[in-house]
Formats: sequence, C-alpha cells, structure tokens
Amino acid sequence: MEYNAPAGKNLFDNAKVVGKPTRRIDGPLKTTGTAPYAYERHDVVPGQVYGYVLGAGIAKGRIAAMDVSAARAMPGVLAIVTAPDTKPVGKGMGNTAPLFGGRDIAHYHQAIALVVAETFEQARAASSVIRVEYERQKGAFDLASAAPGAPLDTTRGGEPDQVRTGDFEAAYHAAYVQLDERYTTPDESHAMMEPHASIAAWEGEKLTLWTSNQMIAWNKGSVGDILDMEPDNVRLDSPYLGGGFGGKLFVRADAVLAALGAKAAGRPVKVMLQRPLIYNNTTHRPASIQRLRIGAGKDGRISAIAHEGWSGNLPGGSGENTVQQTRQLYAGDHRLTANYLATLDLPEGNAMRAPGEASGHMALEVAMDELAEKLDMCPVELRIVNDTQTVPDEPEIKFSDRNLVRCLREGAERFGWANRNKTPGGLRDGRWLIGMGMAAGYRNGPVGKSAARVKLDRRGRVTVETDMTDIGTGSYTIIAQTAAEVMGVPLKQVTVRLGDSAYPASAGSGGQWGAASSTAGVYAACVNLRRAIGEKLGFDGDAATFDNSRIAVDGGSFALTDAGALSATGEMTYGDFQDDYSVGTFASHFCEIAVDAYTGESFIRRMLSVCDAGRILNPVSARSQVIGAMAMSVGATLTEELAVDKRFGFFVNHDMAGYEVPVHADIPHQEVVFLDTLDPVISPMKAKGVGELGICGPTAAVANALYNATGIRVREYPLTLDKYL
Ligand code: MOS
Repeated sequence: MEYNAPAGKNLFDNAKVVGKPTRRIDGPLKTTGTAPYAYERHDVVPGQVYGYVLGAGIAKGRIAAMDVSAARAMPGVLAIVTAPDTKPVGKGMGNTAPLFGGRDIAHYHQAIALVVAETFEQARAASSVIRVEYERQKGAFDLASAAPGAPLDTTRGGEPDQVRTGDFEAAYHAAYVQLDERYTTPDESHAMMEPHASIAAWEGEKLTLWTSNQMIAWNKGSVGDILDMEPDNVRLDSPYLGGGFGGKLFVRADAVLAALGAKAAGRPVKVMLQRPLIYNNTTHRPASIQRLRIGAGKDGRISAIAHEGWSGNLPGGSGENTVQQTRQLYAGDHRLTANYLATLDLPEGNAMRAPGEASGHMALEVAMDELAEKLDMCPVELRIVNDTQTVPDEPEIKFSDRNLVRCLREGAERFGWANRNKTPGGLRDGRWLIGMGMAAGYRNGPVGKSAARVKLDRRGRVTVETDMTDIGTGSYTIIAQTAAEVMGVPLKQVTVRLGDSAYPASAGSGGQWGAASSTAGVYAACVNLRRAIGEKLGFDGDAATFDNSRIAVDGGSFALTDAGALSATGEMTYGDFQDDYSVGTFASHFCEIAVDAYTGESFIRRMLSVCDAGRILNPVSARSQVIGAMAMSVGATLTEELAVDKRFGFFVNHDMAGYEVPVHADIPHQEVVFLDTLDPVISPMKAKGVGELGICGPTAAVANALYNATGIRVREYPLTLDKYL
C-alpha cells in the first residue's frame, strides 16, 4: 500500500461536492477587505507598537560604526534593536543569508536595525537619523561575467548536478538538424500584494507571531532555532495571506525583528517590511543563462539533447534548477543536463513559484519552437512525436499518469492552431502584427504528509482544524469540500480553521503540493472520525455510507447527530512510490499576440492552457490558479526584471512602479481546460497541483507568439519593445 487509505473503498467515485465548481468560502471576506491579514490583526493583543526596519546601504562589507543616540532621543521611540557586534542572527530553515546581519553585511538591504516606536511615523522618522559607517568591499554582481568557469551545482544532495545518458556529443554531431542557442532570464521578484508582516507578543517564555507565512510547522521550528528557544514555546498564526509565491516559504526578517523588538520594548510589536525594502531584503528568483543543444532526425525525433543552466547565489545558497523539466519532458537517447552555480553578492536567490522549471521552460520551449522551424514541422507535432511514458534518463521509472499528447491535441483544436500563419512576421491586421505561439509544460506533482483534526458537534456541524495555509489559492474551500464529501454533510455545515501552529501539522503551501496533500490529510482525519462514530454507535465506519447528514449501515440507519460530539485526528503518510513512478503534471499552452508594427508594443489577445493534473478538486479555484499563473507568465516574458546595479550590487527598481507586474485586465481572454484524469498512485484524492504548472510554459508560448508575429527571435528576457525596434 502506498498510502494509508482504508482498503476497498474510494469515497470520491461518486463525489457530490469534491470536484464540483464551488465558490470560495472565504470569497466574501477577501472581496470586502475584511479577511484579517497579519498586519491588520489589531484585536489579537492590546498595546501594539510599530517597528521600522533599517536595511544595509551596501551590498558587501562591514559596519564600521553605528550611532543610534539621536534616534533614541526621537519622540515616541521605545527601543532600538541593532545587529549584534559578533554574530548575525536569524538564518533559520531554508535561508542562506542571516535575516539580521551582524557586523558583516551579506547583501544590500539586509536588516541591520529595528526602531520600535508608539507610531509608525515615529519609528520611520527615528530610523532616518541612525548614522551608519560602512567599510565597503568589492562584490560579484554580474552573472554573465561570473558564469564562465562556474562549477557544477552541488547544492541539491551534495553531488555535482549533471546527468549524462548515452553519448550526447556523437549523437548531436550526427543529427540531421542541430540547434545550439543561448537564452537568458533576469532576476525576478515575487512582488506579492501583501508585504511580509508579523505581530510579535511575548508572554514570559512564550512567543506568539501573527504572521504571513506559507509553512507553519516548518517555521515554528525555524523560529525556535533562530531565537534559540523551545519550538513548543513558539506559536505561529497565519490564517490569511495576500500571496506568497515562495517568498513566504521560510521565516523572514519581519518575524525575527518583531520578536526581538517586542522583547526589547516589552510591548507587542508589529513589523511590515516596507515595500521599497522587500526587493533587496527578501529573496528572489535568480537570473539564469541557459544553453540548449538539440539534434533531431528528419521526422523530428530528438536523438540528442543537452540543456545546461547557469545561475548565481550568495555563498552557501543553492542554484536554480533550470534543467529539471528537460529531464522529464521529451524522449531522446543521448542526453546531457547540468546546472552550474556561480557565487554572487546580490540579494539571496531562493524559491519562487515553480523554482527552476518556470525559467527552464522559457529556454527549452523556445528551443523546441526553433527546432520545429528548422525541421519545417508543426511545433505541436514535434512535441507529440517526442512524447515518452518513461523517464528518459531512467527508463525503469514510469510516469504515474501522463497525458501530454491529449493536452497538445486538445489545445491545438480548441485554440484553432490550424489557422496559424506559418510565416513569421507575415500576418498583418492594420497596424498590428499578429502571431500565435504554443509550448508544452511540465511540473512535478509532489505530496507530503499532512494531518488534520475533524470535530463533529451535537448539531451535526463539522469543523476542520489544520495548520495548512491559504495563500490565496482556495485551501479553505477544497478542505471544506473534502470534509463535506467524506462526512456526508452539506458544504455549509463545515467550518475550516487554518494557519495556526496549535492545529495538527499539514504539508503547508509550497511546491504545488498543498492542495493534494492537505486534502488527503483531511480525508485521513475524516476516515478516523467515521470509525469513531461507528465505534460509538456500533457499526463499521469504513463500511457505512455517510450521506445527507445520515449514516446508512447494513440493516439500519442513523442520523449523524446520533453520534453526539466527537473528534478525531488523522494524518496521511506515504510510502516510497516515487521510487517507482515519476508523478508529474502536464499542460499545453497557447497564446495569440498583437504587436504594434510602429512602436513594438505587444498586447496579448488570448491564451489557453490545457492541464493534466489528476482530479481537479474545485474547477473554480483551480482555474483561478492557472489564470493567475498565466498572468504571471506574461509578466515574466514581457515586463518583469529586477535591474541589477552592477557597480553597487542591488536591484534598482525596488517598488511596484518600477517592477512591472501585469494584471488580468492586460489579457482580455484566458481559457483553462482540465483533462478529467485521475492519478492512480498519488493519494486517495488522486489529485495533483496546478498552481505551479500554470507558470511552466505560457512564458514560452508568449515568446513564440511574439516571434511568429514579428519574425524577430529575442532570446534575452524580458521581451521588451526596445529589443524589437
Ligand atoms: Mo513554492 S516556490 O514552493 O511556494
């Protein structure tokens, strides 16, 4: 058995609630602005005061002197916490740079002081009179000059990250067509709407952080670690998040500084990282340089494929795995994939939505478009002939469920791909150049152990408690659907409580594992509650049918309320099925674009994604995930770039005016189709994630559409208009 589901029964075969289009139960709170975000939790503890973060003004070097005396004398100031002279604090799980620098500065805007005052304005004013003298050192800030000669990345598992199968070089040279191109992607910011924010309060030894965080159980431990205290004395509460995208996977400076500030001031302290600080203080998706070499036969079959990626990070930081999808997506006997990692002194690179794959597709899927053109072949057909049902480098490993070809065919048909103008730059509509592009997409489909508690009250209401987070994704709703289904109650009879470390530990929100994992944990808890009800009323809970707030058993029936008040916890755990199967999600993506022939400005006309991701738990929230990811893809392709100041080592455009993120209004028509697939091995939910699949490939579909419209192939992202003039 791969997971601990009760034998002989699949509760979702005739599902009434799971898989049905369901409006978000937190929707009214969100749309009326009344969902309480971390910084707005005015009512959780009285006497809250404000912290303002001071970031380092150099990228690399030392603090020679810091004078806070003038700041201390400013009105309203309660405490000033400065980085300790000796050792920096606050690395914690998953981070590379200390969250609170010591004498040594690791990157620009690393936090070096927190001013606590009665009001925000007082804290800000006082921070502006702190005098800091730095000894600046030279740093490495340019990936292009650091990349040549960079060693193979060893940050994932300690081994050099290179996989060779067959003889790439020989097969490449013998191939009928060859492609050898380089692509670059820039540093990108999560730029989520809700900044990182925390309120900290101490009660003796115990610390509570009302915070904005994706991973509660991880970070309860991490806060304990950073502050050198028992994790059991730490409570994290994060019921609503205004986006995370990986930027809130780990503890960040707001949480650590709020805790230290609250201790120093003897008052609860709230800290929101100021927007202009976020881009350099927190993490980002690292820039990449990628080289693709592909050799193929006349029929389009790939005989040789090499994908090499270069990225950079702070010393000790990990590299961006841009070749990940290339190890899964296409057949080909002779293969080389490798990641190289350079040392840079820019702010820390870390996980951002589909880390690795999001940028990897921006190279691989454009290279496939270029290869199709060399072969005079349809780009959809090229991908179909190179499909595989086993992992190319490890043929003994099968995909648990892979329907990429169906995605490609269905997408081509629905989008009207057959009508595409095949001559790049050859279709004009008044002042507009029109183009269509497509790409395939892959993102892995992980699951992780996840627990929940489910309570039944005397009125037959069901309450679910788990530390799962809803980062804007719809967790509340799919968890309510799962509990309603398994307990056989209407959706409105279910209450869901999330994000509190006092609840059972879930898998959290990351790596697009959240939906599949957290609902499986709720399923496990509900199965245990059914058993507990059966035990109380004298039947086998696994054999009974729970429906319509009633329970049918052999030779009788009960009302759910007959059970009285009961509660059960459960945890879904997993065997090692991922040794035998590669569990992935697949998609085809299509885009039609119009480019102003005079100014070079481009406008998306329509986009389509066809997704193969197992059971779709809620087509409404799943669609929202994908259309949001499509919009983020448009940003990655057309506008988003953290501009590096290569002299001083920081990101210049550190606000939402300079870092341009598209909105849905920029894309008039988005369509998402989900194949009705069920993953047979992943969990009893048979569901996989879509939140990161949605950003794997639409980027390249946009880039390929731009080429088809203009006849100009630009390989340096973002594809801004100046590159087409
Ligand atoms: Mo994701 S980048 O694991 O939130």
